[in-house]
Amino acid sequence: MAFTKKTVRDIDVDGKRVLMRVDFNVPLKDGVVTDDTRVRAAIPTIKYLKEHNAKIILMSHLGRPKGDGPEPELSLKPAADKLAELTGYEVKFVDDTYGEKAKAAVDALEPGDILVLENVRFDKREKKNDPEIAKILASYGDIFVLDAFGTAHRAQGSVVGPAQYLPAVAGFLLEKEVDTLTGIFAEPERPFVAIVGGSKVSSKIGVLDHLIDSADTLIIGGGMAYTFFLAKGYTVGTSLQEPDWVERAGEMLKKAEDKGVKILLPVDNVVTDHFGEDAVGEVVDSDKIPEDRMGMDIGPKTEKLYADAIAEAKTIFWNGPMGVFEMDQFAHGTQAVAEAVAANEGCTSIIGGGDSVAAVNKFNLADKMSWISTGGGASMELVEGKALPGVEALNDAE
Ligand code: 3PG
Repeated sequence: MAFTKKTVRDIDVDGKRVLMRVDFNVPLKDGVVTDDTRVRAAIPTIKYLKEHNAKIILMSHLGRPKGDGPEPELSLKPAADKLAELTGYEVKFVDDTYGEKAKAAVDALEPGDILVLENVRFDKREKKNDPEIAKILASYGDIFVLDAFGTAHRAQGSVVGPAQYLPAVAGFLLEKEVDTLTGIFAEPERPFVAIVGGSKVSSKIGVLDHLIDSADTLIIGGGMAYTFFLAKGYTVGTSLQEPDWVERAGEMLKKAEDKGVKILLPVDNVVTDHFGEDAVGEVVDSDKIPEDRMGMDIGPKTEKLYADAIAEAKTIFWNGPMGVFEMDQFAHGTQAVAEAVAANEGCTSIIGGGDSVAAVNKFNLADKMSWISTGGGASMELVEGKALPGVEALNDAE
């Protein structure tokens, strides 16, 4: 699907003040960025703007501060330093966002300069999408660029506000993410195999529903499988389960059947007697989970079943782990799925945010995937078929 909004390519940025919302919400440890994926992802647009002589003003949130003023451990300075390190560019930083200091730093910019403002969420008004915030931020720029895909589902001041006052266009990351994550639903090369895991049916119901409309095969794993088992009439012992969602899970199975979509559920499972690092697993079939055991991972027969389906796919979308992969003894199923996706070299493989990205990284398979989304919540909303407020606020392409 073609991206329908204007991008930085459609606007003259030469000598202009370009206010760009990025998603530098990165993990930090002792003031150092421990995963720079999101900073790297913003570089193509930053580089383009610099090479086209823009004065670049970057803004982002980091974490979830209270909004009552600066919280030094959530400062964007480490992200600004990381950007400088990765690009070799000089990157200025100002420890202010909406005040005189920030304004002075913006006024001092020359073409090609890069300035990072302090965390937009140090002020409550950001999350409330207060119009004052939008006005102040918009006054810093001549053009607004949204490249914060990971935050594009938040209708917050710095994401949607400046677009009310300035020409508003997308950066390359936003364009690519939206194109990729909506493209799989427009014209996927078939068979299209979707893999959905994670703990809860309730948090993925919209995703499952939309995937059943497009996929040829839907593979289900993780804790949510047990609620599907209940819908099929199995008992699940002490496994994670959502009794209130059994009916909906049953409706999903019925919908898939009516549409001719193949749903694959685990046929065997690794179960244990308690949840803990010292827990020891044993393999049981799905219709024979003992009443004092909880499922922690898919079993070996299931791994094979899923790997066979994945090997046939031309398009793969994956979100959510197959088990408690953070514990090595229950990581095997998720690893097997990751390896099966990686082994299918001829397919388009899209990893949709969150834990599945962590899993792919844990098994060192990231470079084998076609696209790994930088958005968690944002990618899920897109896959549910929802519009993202940040994208909606941008100017339409002619
Ligand atoms: C994310 O990490 O998913 C985005 O940066 C959005 O962060 P938020 O959930 O705190 O709005």
